Amino acid sequence: ITKYRPFPRVDLPDRTWPDQEITTAPIWCSVDLRDGNQALPQPMSIEEKLEFFDLLCRIGFKQIEIGFPSAADTEFNFCRRLIEENRIPEDVTIQILVQTREHLIRRSFEAIKGAKRAIVHIYNSTSPLQRRITFSDASREAIRDIAIAGAELVKSLVPTIPETEVVLQYSPESFSDTELDFSLECCNAVIDIWQPTAEKRMIINLPDTVQWTTPNVHADQIEWMCRHLHKRDFIDVSLHTHNDRGTGTAATELGLMAGADRVEGTLFGNGERTGNLDIANVALNMNAHGIATGLDFTDLPSIRAVYERITRMTVAERHPYAGELVFTAFSGSHQDAIKKGMDRRSREIMEDPNLAWGVPYLTIDPQDVGRSYEAIIRINSQSGKGGIAYILDREHGFDLPKTMHPQVGKRIYDLADEMGQELSPDEIREAFFRFFVNLESPLQ
Ligand code: KIV
Ligand code: ZN
Repeated sequence: ITKYRPFPRVDLPDRTWPDQEITTAPIWCSVDLRDGNQALPQPMSIEEKLEFFDLLCRIGFKQIEIGFPSAADTEFNFCRRLIEENRIPEDVTIQILVQTREHLIRRSFEAIKGAKRAIVHIYNSTSPLQRRITFSDASREAIRDIAIAGAELVKSLVPTIPETEVVLQYSPESFSDTELDFSLECCNAVIDIWQPTAEKRMIINLPDTVQWTTPNVHADQIEWMCRHLHKRDFIDVSLHTHNDRGTGTAATELGLMAGADRVEGTLFGNGERTGNLDIANVALNMNAHGIATGLDFTDLPSIRAVYERITRMTVAERHPYAGELVFTAFSGSHQDAIKKGMDRRSREIMEDPNLAWGVPYLTIDPQDVGRSYEAIIRINSQSGKGGIAYILDREHGFDLPKTMHPQVGKRIYDLADEMGQELSPDEIREAFFRFFVNLESPLQ
């Protein structure tokens, strides 16, 4: 196809990321209240933003991008309320986004006045496509100078709010579609102005704004940048992946292997177009490999409920970890294996309380994210005897002799087939009584 251009590969024959392992959690930054909010058909009200902010703090986020205060009064007022009403916990840092434009940067400094700490996140778009279209054929030098002017202005404004510790974050927007040497030139120019040290770290955020590349090429780009950034030891290299290719999670995980320190994303992947990276997905993937993340998703259903109410979006039924159906088995063979796995685990855990998780078809223990075992096995015409015995046992306390499983199972999934629908645990109990206990049942 000639309509679409190929993406350039990174010349990195000695890449090391494929051999790396993720052993510790990155710094997490939620961008729900900014990138997530800006993509909503009906943006959050200030009250909704306040409630969402509290939710993010409870989950454990220590860095939260709260909006674009220079862009709209609601955003500005929300920032002021957080600060003036002392709603920012001691260990949480707010982050605000601003384009590298003078009046917007000045207004942002008015917004964060009085905060204990704030990350000022400046960005300008750097890719050839954006330079050509959005900036009307601007040269590389002109684009780099926008970044320099922004960083210099932020630096000059820091002394005007001495009570606030300001951390600079710079994003070459559309990084993954920008020539690497040019992204580096812009980032290093900003680093040279800010002069980060161990006490005054800064953040270089490398946005996968629109996913142009495959996750492996993105990881090569990140590794290459990590190798060439000035003052690397004093910089938190941050990932900001979107999901246009459906690979936000993969790109982030490989980006971490490639050396990044920090991850920006949203709950359940809300965000522009196909969304931002789903932070819960990455964090729970890490949990599943024994890495403590500092984020608490033990009550995912309540988090999801608040998210759905406030964003007016829905989490898909197959969404990793959070979807309604992701721990549910309808098919007989899966149900059988799950039942065997759970029964075996209940026995073995008595002898070894630290027994590692291992139940077929369940990557994690659903209870770890606030889901119940009862929801795992649901009965329709594709179900099997094991699943029906499981429901009668776990939900109703009828431990049927094994010899009865085939007959009971068949009668009940035949009923589901006749009715053309799923049967609830109560309907299964009722059918069991009707067919096998009640003298008037059809089997008598
Ligand atoms: O996706 C993106 O590039 C952004 C930047 C503003 C960081 O959201
Ligand atoms: Zn974004």
